Amino acid sequence: MKILVINGPNLNMLGIREPEIYGKETYQNLVDLINGYAIKCGIEVEVFQSNHEGDIVDKIQKAYKVFDGIVINPAAYTHTSVAILDALKAVGIQAVEVHISDVDSREEFRKISYVRSVCAKCISGKGFDGYIEALDYLTNNFGE
Ligand code: DQA
Repeated sequence: MKILVINGPNLNMLGIREPEIYGKETYQNLVDLINGYAIKCGIEVEVFQSNHEGDIVDKIQKAYKVFDGIVINPAAYTHTSVAILDALKAVGIQAVEVHISDVDSREEFRKISYVRSVCAKCISGKGFDGYIEALDYLTNNFGE
């Protein structure tokens, strides 16, 4: 099983960025956690981060027939991007939406998610553990 993990804008600033919301752990810590868990579970994982909407769209398109599942934290693009929603729809790969913070208990605009309708599940407010839960979900529901 091959899973693509996509992180959107400013997630490369984890550890520096609003630690009271996103924690003190760095983006590299997140990548290491995901890669370590994937090795333990015997799944193949690629972790990708971009600050650019078009690059995320390109990455999703290139995942077609290559990856079996997508874990996506579109970050701010969650609340704005029809292009990312359309890309996920286009490739038809089972996807899970993840947010480190609890988006539903923050500002009103963070309650809107364009990608949610196409994702099998949304995991929000569980910190880095949300990514692990998403990997478990995709692994357990592979082929369904
Ligand atoms: C986020 C929540 C978004 O509202 C925000 O724009 C982010 C990160 C999260 O992981 O909690 O950049 O997706």
